[in-house]
Amino acid sequence: MVAARITVNGKEATIAPCAPHTTVLDFLRERGLTGTKEGCAEGECGACSVLVARPGVNMPTDWVAVNACLVPVAALDGQEVVTSEGLATAGAPGTPAALHPVQEEMAVRGGSQCGYCTPGFICSMASEYYRPDRCAHADSDSAAATDPEHGPNGFDLHALSGNLCRCTGYRPIRDAAFAVGSPTEDDVLARRREQSPPAPVATAYSRDDSVFLRPGTLAEALRLLRERPEAVVVAGSTDWGVEVNIRSRRANCVVAVDRLPELRGLRVESDHVEIGAAQTLTEIERRLDGSVPLLAELFPQFASRLIRNSATLGGNLGTGSPIGDSPPVLLALDASLVLAGADGEREVPLADYFTGYRRSVRRPDELIRAVRIPLPLSRVTAFHKIAKRRFDDISSVAVAFALDIEGGIVRKARIGLGGVAATPIRALATEAALEGRPWVAETVEVASRVLRAQGTPMDDHRASAGYRSAMLGQSLLKLYARTTEAVSS
Ligand code: FES
Ligand code: FES
Repeated sequence: MVAARITVNGKEATIAPCAPHTTVLDFLRERGLTGTKEGCAEGECGACSVLVARPGVNMPTDWVAVNACLVPVAALDGQEVVTSEGLATAGAPGTPAALHPVQEEMAVRGGSQCGYCTPGFICSMASEYYRPDRCAHADSDSAAATDPEHGPNGFDLHALSGNLCRCTGYRPIRDAAFAVGSPTEDDVLARRREQSPPAPVATAYSRDDSVFLRPGTLAEALRLLRERPEAVVVAGSTDWGVEVNIRSRRANCVVAVDRLPELRGLRVESDHVEIGAAQTLTEIERRLDGSVPLLAELFPQFASRLIRNSATLGGNLGTGSPIGDSPPVLLALDASLVLAGADGEREVPLADYFTGYRRSVRRPDELIRAVRIPLPLSRVTAFHKIAKRRFDDISSVAVAFALDIEGGIVRKARIGLGGVAATPIRALATEAALEGRPWVAETVEVASRVLRAQGTPMDDHRASAGYRSAMLGQSLLKLYARTTEAVSS
């Protein structure tokens, strides 16, 4: 067994004797840091939120909030974690600790009753408190300042979209979030952002018959996958963590690829955008900053900020789920995947990638290295996710549109669908019903009837087949209703 270590609230601790599947949550609680709570153990309540020092988007380091219930502690070998206990400053002997500004606001504004959710809210709130580009609006009457999802202090309430409270009610929590100021110059965690985050550590942590491996290079990862085709590949562990906790699944070998430099690029070239498969969704969202509008529309609807802080496009595509949120969008964007194997790379159009329920053309010894989106982008785009809740939910149906409309004629149509077949699919018949035709109500009504008949939707606990079909047709009518004259002229 190779030693693995983690820094928690400034103190180093060894991970042993934890099993390789032990979560960060269990590791912390077993060491007495019981502020971090377990509510659901599947990434939906945020009671387990902790802060991790990660490569920053605007500064060397960001304090990123993650779900401790999903991440194996071995994945944080060599990394720095701060819990709700670590946010407060220890007082002198016999005196109480000084609350962190975020904790202070939650206390004085009544943001906590039973307190079970509170440490998780505190950590998610602290992550947003330390976001370097969060800035207060000078004019408190400005539209941005009165946006219900952003406070006058620039606090983005989406930072709390992965945290549930069952007894306080959200208004006092929002009041606390909108009242926090900016870090002072002597704030240790604020200053920590100016230094590099801990470098990824090549990890081989084993116990009994199971091993957690973090290879240092892509070549090493591919060699491992060739030797151990049964290995479970993880990035943010937002899917595998649920399997471990809720379905009690165990793997003899887990290979972590989320820090591989070859999977962490993001480049905008003249004819395409290439996004590394291990970029987190939050990183992509902030780095692209709206330059791919269809992705910008997707991200706020993809799970929660806590999940997006860990989840990757490679993971969402790699699981092959028919109801993943990113495939319909990437199908509409005509994206392709760069698959890396020991013998080299190949590029596969996403439309040819899925071969059946959770199956794809990717071989067990290949990794998704990157996603390529061709440029220029279509100007008329939309992503409609039909789900029971607005945030942090699984879709019943998802539809993504990307249309080129010139001189009032639909020159090109790409429509991606999720939740209506065993795999994400392109709505080819609907695309054909639109292309070459005028973008007018008659065309759209005909195409909408075609769209209703696409796929083979099922009845299940989320929605009936009839409802799913109806939503498909409605989504095109909704797109037409929202399309402005400006884009169709
Ligand atoms: Fe609910 Fe982790 S315990 S998100
Ligand atoms: Fe009780 Fe939030 S304060 S669940």
